[in-house]
Amino acid sequence: MSELGRTLAPPATKGHVSVARLSQHWYVACQSQELGSHPIARTIIGTPLVLFRDDKRQAGALLDRCPHRNVPLSLGRVSRAGHLECAYHGWQFDGGGTCRLVPGLIEESSRERRAPAFRVRERDGLVWVYATPDVEPRSEPFQLPLSNARGYVTVQRRVQAEATLHATVENALDVPHTAFLHRGLFRTTKTEAEKNVITAIVRRSADRVEAEYLGEPLPTGAVVRLLSPSGGTVQHWDRFILPSVAQVEYRLGTENHFLVTALCTPETDFVTRLYAVVSFRLRVPAALVKPLIEPLALRIFNQDAAILKRQSDTIREFGGEQFMSTEIDVLGPDIWRLLKHAERGDPQPEELVAERRVTLRV
Ligand code: FES
Ligand SMILES: [Fe+2]
Repeated sequence: MSELGRTLAPPATKGHVSVARLSQHWYVACQSQELGSHPIARTIIGTPLVLFRDDKRQAGALLDRCPHRNVPLSLGRVSRAGHLECAYHGWQFDGGGTCRLVPGLIEESSRERRAPAFRVRERDGLVWVYATPDVEPRSEPFQLPLSNARGYVTVQRRVQAEATLHATVENALDVPHTAFLHRGLFRTTKTEAEKNVITAIVRRSADRVEAEYLGEPLPTGAVVRLLSPSGGTVQHWDRFILPSVAQVEYRLGTENHFLVTALCTPETDFVTRLYAVVSFRLRVPAALVKPLIEPLALRIFNQDAAILKRQSDTIREFGGEQFMSTEIDVLGPDIWRLLKHAERGDPQPEELVAERRVTLRV
């Protein structure tokens, strides 16, 4: 962890909380459309950042603290020269963090004045920031699959959860809660006798863990009835990819393909922002389904956000976590192991390291 991370993000509780701070990675800081001609403030792993566009519309990201007297640079504006101008005494900074102007200063010394700068990449309508300043990243941001694929429609949404990255990602990839928390919307509640026994093949490798569900019956909720009225088979994968990507993939019959990629940004230990990119190809025209699916998806997400907040509150109230997992918490413990290893910088073998089978009733 960087010196910066340590000073700005103290542990929230005394007991154990599943928080891993992976600062040597890329995270989405904002959507391209959010970053106009005014600077905006964002937080990544407890570090306040300011984002702005220069005169060439190139996005830049600096630590949100003016090196002169430490006011937030996000209070400033973009100068005509395309530099970020501090609101207090008007120092101007370029996207690399170098101070290009100190208004009123005549005698220019050779001393370099600068603000820590973060590497930025803008693609797929998203602005990515490398979470450690003033270093050359050893990786590139996550490549979104299908975002330009033929026959697919892609929708982007931004939501926020008051929960750790681990809890947020686990929730996004957790099957057993759907019948209860989202009763009637996605999966319906059945008696144990009515349930089907299905198998999940869990594959874990250096940077990811994936569960492939075999023999899953078509869920009976409203969302699915719309898409596959005649039934059909279900193929379903849930994936976590380091540092913070939660991906759910569904194929219903031969015609419907859904890929939901949640790019998660840990803002602080207990606040995670999700940039959800949904790419799909459907039996019915997308324009017909979108207005019906969107409110349902939002309701599902609001239920998740509400329960995650209650989970966080309880963990804080009790001063830490005490989790009791079973085998059907299929991915949560693996996600935590991956996050922990990555935080420690443990060397990871490149090939497939483990495969196991879990049976469960759904
Ligand atoms: S505090 Fe920013 S210019 Fe003085
Ligand atoms: Fe959920």
